[in-house]
Amino acid sequence: MSTFLIGLSCRECGASYPADARSVCEACFGPLEAQYDLDGVRRAMTAQSVAAGPPSLWRYAPLLPASFEHRVDLGDGFTPLTRAERLGAELGLRALYLKDETRNPTHSFKDRVVSVALTRARELGFDTVACASTGNLAHAVAAHAAAAGLRAVILVPAGLEEGKLAATAAYGATLIEVDGTYDDANRLSSEVADESGWGFVNVSLRPYYVEGSKTIAFETAEQLGWRLPDHVVVPVASGALLTRVARGFGELAEVGLVEPRPVTVSGAQAAGCGPVAEAFARGDEEIHPVRCPETIVRSLAIGDPADGVYALREVRASGGSMVGVSDDDVIEAVALLARTEGVFTETAGGVTVAALARLVERGAIDPDETVVAYVTGMGLKTLEAFAGRFVPAARISPKVQAVAEVVPW
Ligand SMILES: Cc1ncc(COP(=O)(O)O)c(C=O)c1O
Ligand SMILES: [Zn+2]
Repeated sequence: MSTFLIGLSCRECGASYPADARSVCEACFGPLEAQYDLDGVRRAMTAQSVAAGPPSLWRYAPLLPASFEHRVDLGDGFTPLTRAERLGAELGLRALYLKDETRNPTHSFKDRVVSVALTRARELGFDTVACASTGNLAHAVAAHAAAAGLRAVILVPAGLEEGKLAATAAYGATLIEVDGTYDDANRLSSEVADESGWGFVNVSLRPYYVEGSKTIAFETAEQLGWRLPDHVVVPVASGALLTRVARGFGELAEVGLVEPRPVTVSGAQAAGCGPVAEAFARGDEEIHPVRCPETIVRSLAIGDPADGVYALREVRASGGSMVGVSDDDVIEAVALLARTEGVFTETAGGVTVAALARLVERGAIDPDETVVAYVTGMGLKTLEAFAGRFVPAARISPKVQAVAEVVPW
């Protein structure tokens, strides 16, 4: 169950580096990515060996960039893939599945990236971990750092949802609000990373961090009976999740765990901060950063996405689309998902479901395709966004007649 990581390499020029705390190529400033001995993985990793692993993302340890023995695992990942018959019927899809990431230990898919990044941070000898976050990463880093006995320092843009702030501070992390946007907090974190020597999970440890995302693709394939879906819909902030979902499907085919077949990858953003969706609509290869995000979808409000260009390329190459949806559509989609499937998602999940509905309307998804929508976070974390929308039907005195007046029988 050990890792087959052999080093890092530059996505742009291919230069090789040792697997230490670095994320940018010295020659061309391209992003560095984990490289594996895939022949070794092919021999070590079978459907049986995976099934014998733990019920967490660590069942895929040979394709993770940190070792199973040192894992920081709160039971991350291995979330249910549920057949969404009632939502599918509403939307006109006959084989729709939801990957329910609300079930993660801190209720978002960010537990995946943090479990991997903190495992690597411990292996590399860091005693302090840090991040810039739109909220969910903060919560996940704080919880995993607490469990691993690491100090955590977390930078967030001021004004995030109360639930995410409280949940982060509760674990004893030092939570710092930064006046400005996520991009301001992120820029600051790059500067602090250079000076402090802390392990910034989404800066200096980024090549390891992003690898956690691909486990959502591994699980999708395993839970479909080691088969790839036809079309997936992925919410996009930095673009890391979307690009690693695609990479994850590709790696499974390379190591022989699934039959290779094309998977169409579509991305979803809020229109009020949708730089990748805007570039897609313009037919552009470049991303124009959004300086002032205006959306209730705080978790996806990254104006200058690190992996935006790669996400855009991935979507185009796979024949998918990038969709930007309005805040009103997000809230309606949250309500639709809750009342059809019993899953209460945060705003980011509303973006995904609203984008899915749009893709079906446009005919971009065939009704018989096997479609997977990634519901990446939990609704209790963004209650402010739903203020006035999900409320009691009435307040009554404790009398039978009063109930009958609200709901006649
Ligand atoms: C709930 C949720 N979904 C999706 C994303 C998008 O992730 P990425 O930054 O990898 O694109 C985020 C990022 O913060 C998130 O919090
Ligand atoms: Zn390079």
